[in-house]
Amino acid sequence: MSVDGEVMETFVSRPSAAILIGSLRGFPYTLETALADIIDNSITADASRVRIFADANAGFPRIAVIDDGAGMDLAELHEAMRLGSKDPAAIREPNDLGRFGLGLKTASFSQCRRLTVASSTGGNTHAARWDLRYVYETDEWTVQIIPEPQQLPWADELGPHGTLVLWEDLDRVIDSESLDEVAKEFNHRVSLAASHIEQVFHRFMEGERSLPKVAISLNGSELVPHNPFNPKNRATIVDQGEAVGIADMQIDIRAYTLPHFSKVSADEWDEYAGERGYLRNQGFYLYRAGRLIVHGTWFGLMRQTELTKLARVQIDIPNGMDELWKIDVLKASAQPPHLVRQRLRAIIDRLVKNSRGVHINRGKKMTSSEQFPLWERRAVHEGVRYGINLTHPAVVGISASLDPAEQTQFRRLLQLVAAGLPIDSLIVDLGEKPHQTRGEDVPEDALELLVSTICTQLRSAGLSWPDVEESMRANAFVSSNWQKAESLLAELRVADEG
Ligand SMILES: Nc1ncnc2c1ncn2[C@@H]1O[C@H](COP(=O)(O)OP(=O)(O)O)[C@@H](O)[C@H]1O
Ligand SMILES: [Mg+2]
Repeated sequence: MSVDGEVMETFVSRPSAAILIGSLRGFPYTLETALADIIDNSITADASRVRIFADANAGFPRIAVIDDGAGMDLAELHEAMRLGSKDPAAIREPNDLGRFGLGLKTASFSQCRRLTVASSTGGNTHAARWDLRYVYETDEWTVQIIPEPQQLPWADELGPHGTLVLWEDLDRVIDSESLDEVAKEFNHRVSLAASHIEQVFHRFMEGERSLPKVAISLNGSELVPHNPFNPKNRATIVDQGEAVGIADMQIDIRAYTLPHFSKVSADEWDEYAGERGYLRNQGFYLYRAGRLIVHGTWFGLMRQTELTKLARVQIDIPNGMDELWKIDVLKASAQPPHLVRQRLRAIIDRLVKNSRGVHINRGKKMTSSEQFPLWERRAVHEGVRYGINLTHPAVVGISASLDPAEQTQFRRLLQLVAAGLPIDSLIVDLGEKPHQTRGEDVPEDALELLVSTICTQLRSAGLSWPDVEESMRANAFVSSNWQKAESLLAELRVADEG
């Protein structure tokens, strides 16, 4: 070896297996991202079925991922068990979801201390194991050969070609003491992970054209793809897609605005809210070769705001752009390249403008399509004010029956009510449970007050009874209690005409 023309002596500095493996366990995977990394390998190996089995196993839980992909022969299995089995810079097949040649090992070690891989191809099955307790003891990079793979748990599920990845000694998945707790916690964590997988691989599960179709199941039940853009609902606004070319490759971008809560059922609303809710799930959804890798972020181009919480933007990149997008080892973080940032910023501007339009129109609707709103929304210099409409017929009618001092008190009370509008808790409640949040039900006598005062005002303005009735129907309060309101109107009309 030569540096500056001098021949240097060298020595080999081997890492300590025990220490390095220990630190490899620290990759910040979660159970769901680790499982997704294992499934990536199955999809890359052309699997059409991936079956996950998870068993609490009386306090010694274990998880297996079994695919019907190409499988590995002995040499390939040995290579697969090696840390860093593929050069990250190597050009990958377009459908290859791998990246650093590490995922199988690091994802597994992040969750368990015992990784066993059994693989079948060409009539043979071979199995090998990393047992981290053994590595710690011996401080050697030793992979064990399993002489009788058919004895492994779930080995009978392995077909003539395919791979079984088995995790045992799941010290990172469970940390409770009692057996009951272990089983509960384990099953809960596994079902959360399954929901994550339903989203990460939804396009493969849906059988999108140009992607291999893959069915994924957990303990025998099929997982159901979860498409975060809800494209089947006709109230979802789908923007025209656009393409950006960089370095001979193409990025596709498409913006979606999910339906407003008034357009979907409570169940559908919750389904798309997801674990973290709409606010946190807004933003870009970055897919690498069809697989969702990052979601719910605006890449620092904008904050997540209430205004844009229904906006989700799909970005599709091929797997050759990892360097450009700074995709990390975990495939869990990424940053758009400069050229793309500008395009994304333009899309964000448009989305913000659109959502503002939607909301302001809703505001206007509230105050103008309704004939006599009790609340009014005013755009003022510093922002927006909500207040009680003091010219509302019910307010005017009651005022008229009071003496001047009482009138002032009455107006003050209404102003206090308006000033005390609990905006913070409304935001929280509407964010979490829009369908279950509303004002008080209208008691019958309050409805009577509303109907009679509005009628009196409209009649004295010279409206005919059919016109009065039509105006009343336009009032949200009244129309939602139409049966009662109608009979009240009939009584008023009889009194008026008789
Ligand atoms: N389920 C599987 N079926 C077939 N081959 C696999 C499977 N899982 C892993 N391999 C092989 O092991 C290699 C290493 O996998 P991994 O450590 O996840 O790195 P990467 O996916 O980045 O290549 C893969 O490139 C592949 O050749
Ligand atoms: Mg991989």
